[in-house]
Amino acid sequence: MSHTLEITDLKVHFPGRHGAPVRAVDGVSLHVAAGETLGLVGESGCGKTTVANATVGLQAPTAGSVRVQGTELAGASRSVLRDVRARAQMVFQNPVTSLNPRMTIGAAVGEPLLVRGRAAGRALRDQVAALLEEVGLRAEHAGRYPHQFSGGQRQRIVIARALALRPALLVCDEPVSALDVSVRAQILNLLVDLQARHAMSTLFVSHDLAVVRHVCDRVAVMYLGRIAEIAPRDAIFAAPRHPYTRALLAAVPEPDPAVQRAKPRLPLAGEIPSPANPPAGCRFHTRCPIVVDQCRHEVPPLRRVGDSDVACHLA
Ligand SMILES: Nc1ncnc2c1ncn2[C@@H]1O[C@H](COP(=O)(O)OP(=O)(O)OP(=O)(O)O)[C@@H](O)[C@H]1O
Ligand SMILES: [Mg+2]
Repeated sequence: MSHTLEITDLKVHFPGRHGAPVRAVDGVSLHVAAGETLGLVGESGCGKTTVANATVGLQAPTAGSVRVQGTELAGASRSVLRDVRARAQMVFQNPVTSLNPRMTIGAAVGEPLLVRGRAAGRALRDQVAALLEEVGLRAEHAGRYPHQFSGGQRQRIVIARALALRPALLVCDEPVSALDVSVRAQILNLLVDLQARHAMSTLFVSHDLAVVRHVCDRVAVMYLGRIAEIAPRDAIFAAPRHPYTRALLAAVPEPDPAVQRAKPRLPLAGEIPSPANPPAGCRFHTRCPIVVDQCRHEVPPLRRVGDSDVACHLA
């Protein structure tokens, strides 16, 4: 049986301003199994959103393969893409720009069902009411407009709309980053509940490892357009294998001050290089605390170490 999402050697290059293309995604392979949540983490600009967009057909791959439930998106016709977009739905970071301010929230949530001819009239109203209740809103609110809701409630509305077509894959790009800290946990718990209830697969993009730890079964760490490490959640937090993963984890504050004081300090040296001119060999070598000569010349392939797949010569 095919995985819900299977990405193989995906490349997305954008035209660069100075001739050299921006290699935003440069050879990424990953999968999300049925019912599984995969976290995709890494610093700003490493290519997370570009992977997410390619996964729902919003960004055409330069090379490689993106399959949703076995259907290839690379080079697919418009009608195939339209069909896949019903099965792979995206929740964006900003619930304000994700909703049309002139559309009632009932119309917004029901729109995918109406447009695809899945429901109309009474049946549509009933389904919209059920969707609103499923995300913790009240069915009576269907006639209200987005500005009448808080940021957290608006993200619930966006999630209800994404659920309307009962997608097999939910792609969440920083779904709580724009929200007040006080409501983030509620939205994350809602997503965890919905995943369990519908056995949905989820690709969960975040720069925040604490958030990923809360919701993901496995975690993929990206650096400059490539995967540095993929591992089950507990393995990545207990035994990170890639020096970049270790540096990211060292930057996550621990709730217990004693644990925090005992943590090794591994500051990342220097800036992230430009994806228009990435370093040869291992892309992380310019900032790596354990770099050896081989790293400057040879691209490390992903290989299995313990429970992790890790792209490091020294792991
Ligand atoms: N349409 C585009 N045209 C040119 N370059 C782009 C385009 N979209 C993204 N990029 C570049 O590709 C790289 C990856 O961007 P992307 O938005 O995927 O990163 P990200 O990991 O989502 O970052 P963030 O955490 O800030 O959201 C960046 O260098 C970005 O400037
Ligand atoms: Mg992004």
